[in-house]
Amino acid sequence: MKRRTFLNTSIFASLGLFFGKAVFASSSNKQNVSISTSEKTLNNPVVVSTWKHGTEANKAAWKSLKLGKSALDAVELGVRVTESDVSNKSVGLGGRPDRDGNVTLDACIMNHESECGSVAFLQHIENPISVARKVMENTPHIMLVGSGALEFALENGFKKTNLLSPDTEAEWKRWKESETQKKPEINHENHDTIGMLAMDKEGNLSGACTTSGWAYKLPGRVGDSPLIGAGLFIDNEIGAACATGMGEAVIRIAGSHTVVELMRQGHSPTDACKLAVERIIKKHKNLEGLQVGFLALNKKGQSGAYSTYSGFNYAYTDQNKEELIDAAYKMEW
Ligand code: GLY
Repeated sequence: MKRRTFLNTSIFASLGLFFGKAVFASSSNKQNVSISTSEKTLNNPVVVSTWKHGTEANKAAWKSLKLGKSALDAVELGVRVTESDVSNKSVGLGGRPDRDGNVTLDACIMNHESECGSVAFLQHIENPISVARKVMENTPHIMLVGSGALEFALENGFKKTNLLSPDTEAEWKRWKESETQKKPEINHENHDTIGMLAMDKEGNLSGACTTSGWAYKLPGRVGDSPLIGAGLFIDNEIGAACATGMGEAVIRIAGSHTVVELMRQGHSPTDACKLAVERIIKKHKNLEGLQVGFLALNKKGQSGAYSTYSGFNYAYTDQNKEELIDAAYKMEW
């Protein structure tokens, strides 16, 4: 891990550790191209999600897709698994807190009709993705933040929960007492956001993205994950994309929207993710530890991913297989 250099001179240093963290298809959608694993064209529903924690999330999403439910239902159900997993320290319950010890969550969801909903800086609610869906379905708005998002959640039957686990509280206290302010480390062990993309039996695409964000962030900090176009973007004519890693870098290039637009120009999912990563690299002078990964799924059910550094992987599930795929990358971690 030669790039795990601790810095104490940058803004990152003052913030602390970042853990990030269609048998079914209508006949008109049928494709019969046979290519390699992650680029294979499918006739069937498919779900992909970021990092190893996506494996469990995919199981729930796949169960829903297999029952013939929509991609929207699948992605919501899928990422809820990760949000409710207290052992996961970068998403939902048990997520690492901000500088002041408060767990603040960001999430968004988008469907095949370009309807979307989002919450940011939401506290005390275990499943922000479901609140985001309610914002999408029950309000004329797209995004609610902070106390307004919490009030809306409570009005809609969500229960207040203590999101800070004994484990993350103890870690946070140690961090507060430590002299060393560490640069973000986002990689294998320190999973970040879960972004999930799915295609259902109708060939429709939806996505979800949820995170507790940058550990020990400044209070009020919001990353890319709740921002439609940055952390997640769906265009049902073209494809879907989501992002993980350092949100600030993703926002600078409207990352997920960029990936979808690159697919529109004819690039494969992997190439679209690669070109977006290269744009990020071009726009940043200091690449030290700047891990960003994109995951994409096109209208043919082909998936691909690419990250700035090695270490990013994604969970893939279709009717034939379930696997964890290592993303291609630009630099060795
Ligand atoms: N990608 C997660 C965040 O920056 O908050």
